Amino acid sequence: MTFRIVVGSDSAGFEYKEALKKDLQADDRVVEVIDVGVQGGDADTDYPHVAVDAARRVAAGDADRALLVCGTGLGVAIAANKVPGIRAVTAHDSYSVERSVLSNNAQVLTMGQRVVGLELARKLAREWLSYEFDDTSKSADKVAAITAYEERATE
Ligand code: RB5
Repeated sequence: MTFRIVVGSDSAGFEYKEALKKDLQADDRVVEVIDVGVQGGDADTDYPHVAVDAARRVAAGDADRALLVCGTGLGVAIAANKVPGIRAVTAHDSYSVERSVLSNNAQVLTMGQRVVGLELARKLAREWLSYEFDDTSKSADKVAAITAYEERATE
């Protein structure tokens, strides 16, 4: 499987976003990387705007996944989850990264530059690309239940 991936961060996640972007661009599994900013470590766009921009692109089908970084990874996940259809999670360990795709079909992975070491973040991002959700798995009904709750909430 190949991926179109959106990357984004606020100023607190800028260095990691740049490093992860470079890795993704060099990865054969990635056919496109869309960078929604910020474009510098002193940029003043706050994390909710970048996260929602990225999540909307995934929800619209312009990208398959998004990888977002802020200081903790938490704010970008909360903001991305406000976009209908998006399942965004913060994960800083291998097992959670795996389950975020295989159990939760999360399209958005977030990390915190102030939380995780850069080499671990890079490794997790590589691993993340090796997982694909199985629509015929037992997890599919659970993800469908989340979607149904969301649809009822927005009626
Ligand atoms: C900095 O604004 C910091 O609060 C932000 O990067 C993030 O950690 C929020 O969740």
